[in-house]
Amino acid sequence: MQKRFIAVLFMVSAFLTDSCGPKINPNEIRIGEYGSLTGAQATFGTSTDNGIKLAVDEINGAGGINGKTLKLTAYDDQGDPAEAAVVVTKLITQDQVQVVLGEVASSLSLAAAPICQQNKIPMISPSSTNPKVTQVGDYVFRVCFIDPFQGQVMSDFAMNNLKAQTAAILRDQKSDYSMGLADFFVKRFKEKGGTIVSDQSYVAGDVDFKSQLTNIRGQKPDVIFVPGYYGEVGLIAKQARELGVKVALLGGDGWDSSKLYEIGGAALDGCYFSSHYSPESTDPKVQDFVKKYQTKYGQVPDALATLGYDSMGVLAAALKNAKSLSEADIRDAIAATKAYTGVTGSISLDANRDAVKPAVVLKIENSKASYVTTVNP
Ligand code: PHE
Repeated sequence: MQKRFIAVLFMVSAFLTDSCGPKINPNEIRIGEYGSLTGAQATFGTSTDNGIKLAVDEINGAGGINGKTLKLTAYDDQGDPAEAAVVVTKLITQDQVQVVLGEVASSLSLAAAPICQQNKIPMISPSSTNPKVTQVGDYVFRVCFIDPFQGQVMSDFAMNNLKAQTAAILRDQKSDYSMGLADFFVKRFKEKGGTIVSDQSYVAGDVDFKSQLTNIRGQKPDVIFVPGYYGEVGLIAKQARELGVKVALLGGDGWDSSKLYEIGGAALDGCYFSSHYSPESTDPKVQDFVKKYQTKYGQVPDALATLGYDSMGVLAAALKNAKSLSEADIRDAIAATKAYTGVTGSISLDANRDAVKPAVVLKIENSKASYVTTVNP
């Protein structure tokens, strides 16, 4: 069904290109972006888009790349994997982009990466952390760390900093990100001598988590690991407190959204999550970025805005260094990224096309996440 739709789309776009002539300007570099600008993870897509656009404006304002202007075409995938496949096909066949930025959510990157790979169009995910994403093929990259590391960071934090011996898990069974991160946390926790007393699940979009939380409450865990996205996590925190569960909830980067606090409020106080950067960092590069972003958008950049900015930065550096602007040469130049100074840290891509970078742990108090510690890989 989906394949047939893509085939029709292909024909329609071929027809359009034929009849109207390709709208290719040789003085432009065509970059595609896909993300959840609407839907249940809308802050993921909009923050990333803000970060990417800030970078594009700066680069074009400074004269572009080797005399060429960056032309960004961004589409909304509504947080839906089928739609992600559709819009990425459109970027490649209709807009003839030379490189693609996106997605945030690992399941959406996994839906579209095979299309980029088959068409040999390089794709850089700013923030998908599931290991499977870059395993799709040699045209798929990311500028963030991966979940085996993130799971280890939060497991070690639970055991060493919070002195937890037992943990419960509450995971989203339809999300590659949530399932993977839960597994990596569990593996590390057990290896270090901890016990998982309950492993519960839900499906994105659920609004009632009371039966899972009642089960967890009965097992009296020291901490509860909830590697989900902000919408469900906010509700889970509230319902946990309503049921009298007082222990800290822990999570990963999927918590990072201003909407988390709107939904969860005071129920989140004393909870922790791992992320890619802290706006509190005194690093001048971070402070300079926070100031620029705030001036343009009137808010403090979250991790996604920052990773969006860095993904465009890594791409711009690669475009500058590429032997030519053929997709293969762009691919090779991205793969060669070493010690790029990003806002989220120094970015080097390893043989698996993943970035190896530190993580930060943040603590929530009064609807604000504050820096606790940095963990190096
Ligand atoms: N790492 C998440 C995933 O792979 C996406 C995410 C990154 C969400 C950073 C919020 C902040 O699905």
